Amino acid sequence: DQPDGLPGLLLGWYDQHRRVLPWRFAPGEVADPYRVWLSEIMLQQTTVATVGPYFQNFLGRWPTVKDLAAADLDDVLRAWAGLGYYARARNLHKCAIVVASQHGGRFPDTEEGLLSLPGIGAYTAAAILAIAFDKPATAMDGNVERVMSRLRAVTDPLPASKPILRAHAAALVPARRPGDYTQALFDLGATICAPRKPRCILCPWTAACEARKQGIAEDLPAKTAK
Ligand code: ADE
Repeated sequence: DQPDGLPGLLLGWYDQHRRVLPWRFAPGEVADPYRVWLSEIMLQQTTVATVGPYFQNFLGRWPTVKDLAAADLDDVLRAWAGLGYYARARNLHKCAIVVASQHGGRFPDTEEGLLSLPGIGAYTAAAILAIAFDKPATAMDGNVERVMSRLRAVTDPLPASKPILRAHAAALVPARRPGDYTQALFDLGATICAPRKPRCILCPWTAACEARKQGIAEDLPAKTAK
């Protein structure tokens, strides 16, 4: 019982090819918002391969958001060393304290509630809503922008094209399995719809992809010269 159309095709592909990642939940496992939040903060501006060991270390030392809230900031900053962007680590600790002290240790499950927390912006709020709470939300990152620009052959350059790419992405998010769908899009962007040499033959969306039909997939997304 998959959604119809493009979301269903992507979910069918994901069921066969999903990457096993340290923060990912096995099919049927109940998602832990703390794990989703921690991984999504770490994955901003840092690669999946680099984040893996850091994520495992944090989860081992501070298994719950209350544990992280009770940690010394200095210990958190030391554990973060190597991930860069230390403001992220400071906000991480601040956010844990707010969730522990003002929300009883439970992450809010609304966009408004999540956006009110330190270090959580539109992307992170949407990723948590989708992956942790299985609510339809549109998490836009570079992967999703690239996939959407190709699927719909959006030739306008980034960053001006962001609103139209977001609209295309939002129109596709299914009511069923939005969390898996969101992670499937990340996997598609990382392993198939890569920045260079996209592997269109293996793509579950190849028949619908406008850029592939026009032979311009590798040229997208266009970017305004810096
Ligand atoms: N990039 C950002 N979030 C991700 C996730 N949850 N899985 C894989 N790659 C990601």
